[in-house]
Amino acid sequence: MATYDLLLLPGDGIGPEVMAEVSRIIDWLNAQAQGRATFNTESDLVGGAAIDAHGIPISDATMEKALGADAVLFGAAGGPKWDDVAYEIRPEAGLLALRKELDLFANLRPAICYPALADSSPLKRELVEGVDLMIVRELTGGVYFGEPKEIVELGNGQKRAVDTQVYETWEIERIARVAFDLARKRRNQVHSAEKRNVMKSGVLWREVVSAVHAADYADVTLEHILADNCAMQLIRAPKQFDVIVCDNLFGDMLSDEAAMMTGSLGMLPSASLGSPDESGRRKALYEPVHGSAPDIAGQGKANPIAMIASFAMALRYSFDMAAEADVVEGAIARVLEKGLRTPDIAAPGTEVVGTAEMGAAILEEMEAGS
Ligand code: IPM
Ligand code: MG
Repeated sequence: MATYDLLLLPGDGIGPEVMAEVSRIIDWLNAQAQGRATFNTESDLVGGAAIDAHGIPISDATMEKALGADAVLFGAAGGPKWDDVAYEIRPEAGLLALRKELDLFANLRPAICYPALADSSPLKRELVEGVDLMIVRELTGGVYFGEPKEIVELGNGQKRAVDTQVYETWEIERIARVAFDLARKRRNQVHSAEKRNVMKSGVLWREVVSAVHAADYADVTLEHILADNCAMQLIRAPKQFDVIVCDNLFGDMLSDEAAMMTGSLGMLPSASLGSPDESGRRKALYEPVHGSAPDIAGQGKANPIAMIASFAMALRYSFDMAAEADVVEGAIARVLEKGLRTPDIAAPGTEVVGTAEMGAAILEEMEAGS
């Protein structure tokens, strides 16, 4: 039986609460006599929790563990407590350092509208019911990491702030390939979103995506779309989308928008993947798209579904355990069908439960469904 090392980084705010529910699922999988793998887990600090302990948002020792792990599960980072720490060591810098050091350039953010939740979306049921799209966000380049990135004093009482949006051909090529490969396993359609009408990086983005398409993926339908139009179309008619590929910043925004198709930011999982090594293994980090939600932290109210669904993505993408991933995702769907809801997705006629109850209900359904 295979043994895998998982590094759990619960982080801040609701991170530890939602991670606790994943830990229970991991324990359950480990206890299965017919299990196909055993997971060794180790927990460590990141974000504000690491700042409190070590003065920096991720220590070298933690980064070493992340580099050595078969997958990292990440909760959330940040909160008002650390609003005044220096920009370089803010909690989010821990997450950005992980993405960069592990070279996790491909961020997959699936937005699926569970039928039971269609009424929780602020959009009309007929618009969102059946939405099943995947945002493929470039995660290690663009304006997040481009240099210069600075605020300079101009000496006349004014300051100038600069962020740099920069992409090279190879960066666009490799993320385009991820998008086309995924589309082939889905509905074979890719929208590539950029702003070629105002940005040079958009011009190159379109050129490179087109070239990769023509060379190796002519069987996939490719449409180029301006990113602002994409944002509008996501609200107007989200079911037209299968895979959307875009740069780091547009992906950040479009994925928050797509989350609302699913009813709540508390529903959206994500996978961040690196390139395969010689043995075909990819470095990987799995995290919910929601943040640390300091306003509800520590109250047992947080929705653990995005975190649990992120672990299901780990089963699927890192461990080739699609059957187990189906068991987890099926259990989530059934619990929702039964009318159990955390407060963020509550609706009239449903039963509102807390984080631990939701986790326990999903586990119960897994037992019943496996
Ligand atoms: C996300 C988050 C992060 C990002 C923050 C926490 C740095 O919003 O993963 O979408 O901007 O990438
Ligand atoms: Mg974001």
